[in-house]
Amino acid sequence: MHTFVSRAADATSASHDTTSVNRTRHDFTGVESVWLFGYGSLIYKADFQYIERRPATIRGWSRRLWQGSHDHRGTPEHPGRVATLVAEAGAVCTGMAYRVTPATFEYIDFREKNGYLRHAVTLDFGNDERAEGLVYIADAGNAAWLGAASEADIARHVAASSGPSGRNSDYVLRLADALHELGADDPHVFAVADALRKLQA
Ligand code: BEZ
Repeated sequence: MHTFVSRAADATSASHDTTSVNRTRHDFTGVESVWLFGYGSLIYKADFQYIERRPATIRGWSRRLWQGSHDHRGTPEHPGRVATLVAEAGAVCTGMAYRVTPATFEYIDFREKNGYLRHAVTLDFGNDERAEGLVYIADAGNAAWLGAASEADIARHVAASSGPSGRNSDYVLRLADALHELGADDPHVFAVADALRKLQA
């Protein structure tokens, strides 16, 4: 089976709309299927068809609620906070992998156009089973970046945000529940979810 080829990464996520940049980043010629690593809402919900779905981990990345969302869990005037990945040596990020056809990326490129770029990554399925795949990451240079804040401040921000896809708090609480179900250790998301529950009590 052919795998995708990464093209030279000469474009950045500085623009608000990353759709066209993502379309230039990988060559899917002759490729039947590709693994996509999900670490946010994709862990508990996929609104596209897939061939196969499996829990997986990736190394060297930590999940953080540092990306602004003005089109899903917030608005342009009051962006919500959603997950992205930040590089961290030795970190392990647990998520859900989907084997999809290359056409699926056209849809996700558009849905995640708010600063996320596709990156190649090695997925670990356990039992020494690994595969190359793609993951969407919004980095600190992108136009919707909100960046670090204390988990208490993030919880207050999330509690006050909502957008076309629903309440920001629902996103974080569902993500925390899904991570617990996977047996994942994610102190950042769990701390924000705990602070949110206290705010809601
Ligand atoms: C996700 O894993 O839910 C995801 C996060 C950012 C962009 C695309 C998917």
